[in-house]
Amino acid sequence: MFHLDWLNDRFLIAMIAILHVIINHGLAVGFIPFVTWLEQKGVRNSSPNEITNPEWDKMAYKLMWTAFIITTTIGAMTGVGIWFSASLVSPASIGSLIRVFYWAWFTEWIVFVTEVVLILIYFLTWKNSNKSLDAKLRHIKFGWFLAIFSWITMALIVAILGFMMDPGNWKTDHSLLTGVFNPIYLPQLLFRTPTAMVVGGTYGLLMIFLFTKKDTEIRTKAVKLAGKWILAWTPLALIAAIIYYNVMPNAMKANLSTAVGTMDFAQYYDLLKYIIIGAISIVFIVASIAVFKPKLLKTYMVITSVVAIMSFLAIFERVREFIRKPYVIGNYMYSNLLREEDYPLYKKDGILKHATYASVTEITNENKIQAGKDVFMYTCSRCHTTNGVNAITYVFERMYGFGKPLNEDDMASYIPNMHEGRTYMPPFAGNKKELKALVAYIKHLQQTGETLEGAQTEGIVVNQKNNSDAVSKMVERLKEEQNKKLVTK
Ligand code: HEC
Repeated sequence: MFHLDWLNDRFLIAMIAILHVIINHGLAVGFIPFVTWLEQKGVRNSSPNEITNPEWDKMAYKLMWTAFIITTTIGAMTGVGIWFSASLVSPASIGSLIRVFYWAWFTEWIVFVTEVVLILIYFLTWKNSNKSLDAKLRHIKFGWFLAIFSWITMALIVAILGFMMDPGNWKTDHSLLTGVFNPIYLPQLLFRTPTAMVVGGTYGLLMIFLFTKKDTEIRTKAVKLAGKWILAWTPLALIAAIIYYNVMPNAMKANLSTAVGTMDFAQYYDLLKYIIIGAISIVFIVASIAVFKPKLLKTYMVITSVVAIMSFLAIFERVREFIRKPYVIGNYMYSNLLREEDYPLYKKDGILKHATYASVTEITNENKIQAGKDVFMYTCSRCHTTNGVNAITYVFERMYGFGKPLNEDDMASYIPNMHEGRTYMPPFAGNKKELKALVAYIKHLQQTGETLEGAQTEGIVVNQKNNSDAVSKMVERLKEEQNKKLVTK
């Protein structure tokens, strides 16, 4: 498996994904309708002999220019990057999701390409469209189309995110539609839509500050509009947040205290809750000042508001990803990429026997450490490293005392029960021998400080008992046995 031993694999996805959401919600889904609305206001508020108010239109164009540059570069790259990094870190879950959501992804691809075409049209024809009223009105229409398509790309992906949290009835009827309309889908979409609008308006407010001069009438007017936009969407976001919270399964709510920070921070959970409430209040207050006292608004206030809303998004995504644990796809596949329904088999035969890549299949005293390393890779490495973020030696030492030699028996009696106390961890999948090998490896890690390299540096060893040669030999043998039986008959 691919593995980043210092950074932690989940961190890789998180960095890319959070950057993407900050750009997607703030500069596409929530921003395009805001800019189009501003453009429309320019036409409405122009004098009778003008098509639009030129100064106002220039400001709206500059906002769009910024969004265009960022969304078509970092935005698009991080969007693809999410799936790229997730496929490396979590290939089995992406494989399962593609089987379920094939046509949804296919549609997503078409919608995304349409979105790209529309953003090119909208941005590149802006200046030309100012030549006639017809052209300008058509241009504004393209803005609304673009806004709709940006929203649809989000709406499709949110179906997959909801499915990963709670697949609902899909486990019994296995249809795409049940998968799409999972219990969390619509509440989450309902929440993300107004939230994206609030983020878009907040970024818009900052850009208005950057692109207009102090104490000008245009700044006052634009600031007021942005404030109104934010204030109008905030209550909807709050109501949707409550609905969303209420459809979340209880098992997920139980994970919340660790989800917000880490276990070391669980005691500050309340504090973090207030930070979230604080962030929303800052955005709300700044928007209120923008509407009622636009001249009092200062750059630092607007920047604080942007930082607050970005932190809110980052925390929200982290929490959403975390509370789903121990599953990567709810009640179907654990975060270690092993399916729940295969557990009885693993417990009986061990995971190494059925693994595609494994250097050891029969565990002996000599190869125990190597076997333990493979077991760690399969059962712990998606969330723990050996020396970096959430290091396995660190979490055990935190329990048994820092600097003390780890005891293999203690660890071996803890691991089979670890999922009961710490519900975000999947149950241990392997058999007794594999458990012994795993604890020997963890002890070895503590003694040597060795690091675990991923397949990208170490290469892979195909499981000799589970490769195509082995399987065809087995089939031959079975055929021969059958023939012999027929002959004796
Ligand atoms: C789905 C992700 C995930 C998997 C898989 C996982 N863990 Fe964990 N584990 C965590 C998280 C998250 C924590 C909490 C870390 C923190 O917040 O400090 C944790 C904590 C621990 C702790 C400390 C618990 C405590 O009460 O202090 C131990 C020990 C541990 N893990 C062992 C393991 C072992 C051994 C494996 C593999 C057999 C494993 N974990 C697999 C996510 C995981």
